[in-house]
Amino acid sequence: MSIADRVRHPALKSRIMSAEAAAALIPAGANVGMSGFTGAGYPKAVPQALAKRIEGLHAAGEEFRISIWTGASTAPELDGALAQVDGIEMRLPFQSDPICRQKINSGQMHFSDMHLSHVAQHAWFGFLGHLDVAVIEVVGILPDGRLIPSMAVGNNKTWLDLADKVIIEVNTMQPEALEGMHDIYYGTDLPPHRKPIPLLQPDDRIGEPYLRCDPDKIVAIVAAHQSDRNSSFAAPDDNSQRIAGHIIEFLQGEVKKGRLPENLLPLQSGVGNVANAVLAGLNNGPFNQLTGFTEVLQDGMLDLLRSGKMTSASATSISLSSQALADFNANIDFYRQRIVLRTQEISNHPELVRRLGIIAMNAMIEADLYGNVNSTHTMGSNMMNGIGGSGDYARNGYLSFFVTPSVAKGGSISCIVPMVSHVDHTEHDVQIIVTEQGLADLRGLSPRQRAKLIIENCAHPDFKGALLDYTARAWDHGPGRHTPHLLDEALSWHQRYVKTGDMRA
Ligand code: COA
Repeated sequence: MSIADRVRHPALKSRIMSAEAAAALIPAGANVGMSGFTGAGYPKAVPQALAKRIEGLHAAGEEFRISIWTGASTAPELDGALAQVDGIEMRLPFQSDPICRQKINSGQMHFSDMHLSHVAQHAWFGFLGHLDVAVIEVVGILPDGRLIPSMAVGNNKTWLDLADKVIIEVNTMQPEALEGMHDIYYGTDLPPHRKPIPLLQPDDRIGEPYLRCDPDKIVAIVAAHQSDRNSSFAAPDDNSQRIAGHIIEFLQGEVKKGRLPENLLPLQSGVGNVANAVLAGLNNGPFNQLTGFTEVLQDGMLDLLRSGKMTSASATSISLSSQALADFNANIDFYRQRIVLRTQEISNHPELVRRLGIIAMNAMIEADLYGNVNSTHTMGSNMMNGIGGSGDYARNGYLSFFVTPSVAKGGSISCIVPMVSHVDHTEHDVQIIVTEQGLADLRGLSPRQRAKLIIENCAHPDFKGALLDYTARAWDHGPGRHTPHLLDEALSWHQRYVKTGDMRA
């Protein structure tokens, strides 16, 4: 199918042009809002054409950088291509691209790591500066100019509303049958005029299926015919299966104690292999009639929908492996009845997460003895991906799990440390820590009680002795006994790893 068939607004057909011509409309220094959330629904042709243009300009000695705001991570065609040519001044709010990460950690690129629910409102409040251009992937344009959203909604509504100029990429690879799956809510006023968001069940539809955009702002329409990132997941390994097992056993206990209904509460699941494995575990678990209220719908949640264990899922993005995508495309009518794709300000909204009572399950890099969690940094200084939506769900959820294998890098790093080298989720937001060793339920405990449980249940045997020794000496010699620490030693494990490549003494 050609792009002309998908651009049904008569006047807009005349704005169809090449990716190169559209990229030339983006000025140096611009703030550019692009679509894209966890490798789905990002523009593919324009960023690559822009990267080529920047490469040429840099070769000619001309400086050219832009700032890129998205929903979340994108893919090599966007983040990778533009970072490679040093075309990005500031990137926000989340990325997971290896080249981007290298440029951020070598100090060549700025990165503002933000809670994903904050991004749209901070743009509206004017906290991020002026948005010059939006580049948005869509499935098609209706005769009246409304846009059929693609595999991710993210911050597209906000970028389309705020940008001076809009470039639309119509991706003919994305199925037209996505039409009707989206729910775009236009009721978010700014304080002091905000009203309650009228969403009471995870699958409620409170908006409309299309994105609005003033056709006069659309300066270019570009054709793309390329699939999303479609990363594969590792088959659940032994550690992930054990982590999933601990969570399921714990949830069963909560049901028995009457603290959760039999079909649980809506599930949020983070990104990565471990999170995907937990969902795979639920598919073989005892719970039925589950619901999902999350930000990214990955293979694991699709499996739950297909098996009938889950009745509906709300998200802002669908990010699938190639195999799962084939199933999604073949059964899209089935999935359209069960999936709602929303803007990320709604999928991650603290008001809704609190009201619905979300069970939040996110992966982490490390946790400390007292339950503080680091999701983003290695050795206190290097950015991995970003906080994403984990904070939106963790602080406001009914239950908040953080999971990790107990050791990393072949056993040379303990993921349970005396003090985290960076804090994303404080002890006040973290309820349950899970490793393959076991689960520590921290609810209602004091710091010292938490430390005892985390060491006993979650630490790897290779590090238990050293952790116990640290807590005993911190009790005896630390400056205080509420949260006992030895200040000159608290980060010594990280320091040892940086120096020797091993946290073990
Ligand atoms: N110190 C140093 N490196 C560590 C580490 C630690 N304590 N723990 C893990 N790592 C390394 C791993 O070795 C691996 O490195 P590699 O890529 O070189 O092999 C990498 O971190 C990823 O670890 P892995 O165990 O494969 O985890 P994952 O794929 O489940 O991802 C996070 C874990 C924390 C990086 C990921 O979940 C994330 O980015 N979370 C933050 C955002 C978020 O939670 N979003 C969800 C909201 S919906």
